[in-house]
Amino acid sequence: MKVRKPLVAGNWKMNGDIVSNEHLFTALRAALERASLSQVEVVVCPPYPYLGQAAAWLGDTGIAWGAQDVSALPNGAYTGDVSAAMLVDLGCQWSIAGHSERRQLAGETDDQVAAKVSMCIAHGLGVIACIGETLQEREAGETEAVLGRQVDAIARALTGSPNPLPAQRVVLAYEPVWAIGTGRTASPEIAQAAHRFVRERLAQRGYGHADATRILYGGSVKPGNAVSLFAMPDVDGGLIGGASLVADDFLDICRGAAVA
Ligand code: 13P
Repeated sequence: MKVRKPLVAGNWKMNGDIVSNEHLFTALRAALERASLSQVEVVVCPPYPYLGQAAAWLGDTGIAWGAQDVSALPNGAYTGDVSAAMLVDLGCQWSIAGHSERRQLAGETDDQVAAKVSMCIAHGLGVIACIGETLQEREAGETEAVLGRQVDAIARALTGSPNPLPAQRVVLAYEPVWAIGTGRTASPEIAQAAHRFVRERLAQRGYGHADATRILYGGSVKPGNAVSLFAMPDVDGGLIGGASLVADDFLDICRGAAVA
């Protein structure tokens, strides 16, 4: 029995519209009415314009909702950015930070990701901080070096704050880039080894709650592979992309986290 409550988060990425979201929210609500998912913490992260819709549909359900990104800066002349304070103002409970698509497409650095984590901490916003190596890095034997560097930056943010977040609001997500949207999932053993490394590294870098921190796996998680991944001792749930857009698949994955 794991001491950490599993968490499953749906990252919708740049998908959805008012009508299709409504179908998804309706299905999630209906499923919760049939059977509670109280053993699992469930979060959905739609695109910014639909956060208000998420609040309206999920506000009273126990499913939390979050943003896919947050600014590293507090406020001011940063066109297009959304601050942690704004997300909290809206009632948002979580934000993803440092997703590999932001690192790759928007050139986010480890220091910027750490600044985003610091912003979340400063505003009491739960954070899902993402890390993960590319295929090239894995094949070059650099996985631990890359994860170590990414975790060190996040650990600096976690240990450097005067008002730290409670451990249950700090989540890391290991998402090997080669497994995202490719259908090529990490084996449970590969995921476990990476998660163990990340947890030990957090502790080595002075973060006192490494044992209580949920570390999610992300990358082609589907109903058929979720249970075997979530059963690994250091895998505390999942960050789900494509399958989170299909209500039945997402719910199956959430149930998988409850049984694993
Ligand atoms: P997929 O589940 O579509 O592979 O995406 C994973 C991911 O990037 C979640 O953040």
